[in-house]
Amino acid sequence: MSGGAGRVLLVGASGQVGQACARAFAAAGWEVVGTRHASASPELRSLDLADEPALRAAVREVAPSVCVVAAGMTNVERCEAEPALAEALNARAPAVLASACAAVGARPVYLSTEYLFDGTAGPYREEDPPHPISAYGRSKRAGEQAVLAAPGGLSVRTTVVYSWQPGGMNFVMQLLATLGAGRRMRVPADQRSSPTYAPDLGEAIRLLVEAGATGPVNAVGPEVLDRHAFALLAARVLGLDASLLDPVETAALGQRAARPLRAGLRIERLLRLVGPVMRPPAEGLAEVARLAGRR
Ligand SMILES: NC(=O)c1ccc[n+]([C@@H]2O[C@H](COP(=O)([O-])OP(=O)(O)OC[C@H]3O[C@@H](n4cnc5c(N)ncnc54)[C@H](OP(=O)(O)O)[C@@H]3O)[C@@H](O)[C@H]2O)c1
Repeated sequence: MSGGAGRVLLVGASGQVGQACARAFAAAGWEVVGTRHASASPELRSLDLADEPALRAAVREVAPSVCVVAAGMTNVERCEAEPALAEALNARAPAVLASACAAVGARPVYLSTEYLFDGTAGPYREEDPPHPISAYGRSKRAGEQAVLAAPGGLSVRTTVVYSWQPGGMNFVMQLLATLGAGRRMRVPADQRSSPTYAPDLGEAIRLLVEAGATGPVNAVGPEVLDRHAFALLAARVLGLDASLLDPVETAALGQRAARPLRAGLRIERLLRLVGPVMRPPAEGLAEVARLAGRR
């Protein structure tokens, strides 16, 4: 559907991106039917990505005009340890949802990632060839391909999503919890990326859907910076003690999954399609600080 509101099935409405999408679509007059998995959110419908008949039934019963798949296995380390599960949740489930969408005339929207790339030549454009270096990245690429192969398929690629999310584990919430408690935090100084404010991402997805966009579209904040630089900025804006930050190389963290180092995404296509909806980190962080009561 292009222009005007309809009904959106939001799979993963309990997550950080899902919550932002739910707010953006509802504020624009869309009817939102959201799902959750392990969260206790009584207003959301329970749906397990591993239950293929349930996925098909949800699409058939809700009969949406758009289905946003914001659910997935998002822990990169866990994906590396359990690649078959990552494939089932991040690739097979979206493929099932996309084929169910085709049957009811709904457009599928996938949440993809800069982890499609190896991080040797970022920031990346939509047309750059993917080369994932982790199980998470491979599973996300497969899920994206399945959705893009479906009629009207849209894949929104994003990264380092942050927001004020009490109880959440996004990078800025980790900074608030760790530095706020006076504990030290090791932060990679060699991972460059595009920090993305979740409410802007939700709004971008809503606008892309209403514009009838298809194919891959990068939707990230407009600045590329390394994780330590982002942490320093966040500490300054949030009034945290930046001397508790220890810059390290990614290799020193001893992680199981490889990370794309010189990454980040370019947003010229997004700007052409929906305009300057993504705020730079200083502005997103200032809003987090206000919501956190820290300024
Ligand atoms: N956050 C980022 O920086 C980032 C970057 C790039 C791409 N993405 C992509 O954006 C999407 C959303 O990420 P997010 O940050 O919002 O993640 P999140 O906060 O971890 O939320 C994950 C969502 O997936 C749901 N979920 C997990 N396992 C499920 C299962 N077996 N069945 C059904 N639902 C399940 C969760 O439901 P419950 O909580 O109710 O269990 C939750 O709604 C993901 O596809 C992720 O790959 C995120």
